[in-house]
Amino acid sequence: MEPIVYIDGQYLPKKDAKISVFDHGLLYGDGIFEGIRTYGGRVFKLDRHLERLYQSAGMISLEVPLGQADFRDVILEVCRRNEVQEGYIRPIVTRGAGTLGLDPRRTERPTVIVIATTLAPLYEEKAEQGLRLTTSKWRRNPPQALNPNIKSLNYLNNILAMLEVIEKGMDEAVMLDMDGFVSEGSADNIFIYDGSTFISPPVETNLPGVTRETAIELIRKKGWDFREEKFRMEALYSAQEVFLTGTAAEIAPVVEVDSRKIGSGKPGEKTKELTASFKELVNSTGTPIYE
Ligand SMILES: Cc1ncc(COP(=O)(O)O)c(C=O)c1O
Repeated sequence: MEPIVYIDGQYLPKKDAKISVFDHGLLYGDGIFEGIRTYGGRVFKLDRHLERLYQSAGMISLEVPLGQADFRDVILEVCRRNEVQEGYIRPIVTRGAGTLGLDPRRTERPTVIVIATTLAPLYEEKAEQGLRLTTSKWRRNPPQALNPNIKSLNYLNNILAMLEVIEKGMDEAVMLDMDGFVSEGSADNIFIYDGSTFISPPVETNLPGVTRETAIELIRKKGWDFREEKFRMEALYSAQEVFLTGTAAEIAPVVEVDSRKIGSGKPGEKTKELTASFKELVNSTGTPIYE
């Protein structure tokens, strides 16, 4: 079946799904996006993702040409047209086609794109054995330069970290903020368990992940302690357990950071319990695509 892509009001076969080379999303990374997963024909936390999409748009003064309810309908329709059950959805809003200059006022109107495809979780196999991380030499964009709360089309900062991961044969990067505190991975948030409390860095220096929020809910529901706190690499190295959270990564255990073993060097017991609860949650909740 040829994938169907939504662009500006039209549902197009993949081969015809094209946008202008003058689109400022391409020319300048001027735009925003979301990454959403579906499980068993249901969209996980659709409204929260939409809320973050509109927040990202607001932070770059981009007016989304669709209301939130209409956007929601489009996403579900794209899923239906692609017969998605276990899948991944990518809504994108760019500044639109314009002139070659930076000036956003010289664009016609924002471009809205929705892609939906069948996809397995990113680390499905690796999650069994646990991920190996490396600290990136590239610092996460500081909020004073490009706020990491904005899920923008400008991911070069993260891609530089990913290139380093590939060079070193690792699975994912740890990115530090400008002050040397741990901020997040290249496309996921990070948690440590110090033996009594789960800790994740405050979202000032990273993306407010929907999976991060879900993990915090699950931790609290289990009666475990959680706090948001800045921490340095040493806390990561000496943690009993470390895990990443992300729409693609889900809740993925980390067993090694910078060649140092985390805990026993195997996925932590608490992390495994969280992963199991997460799977239960994603498979029992969400917006139905087909009802
Ligand atoms: C930079 C970054 N941090 C964290 C995340 C995790 O966020 P979420 O759980 O909402 O997918 C992502 C993925 O979207 C990301 O790109």
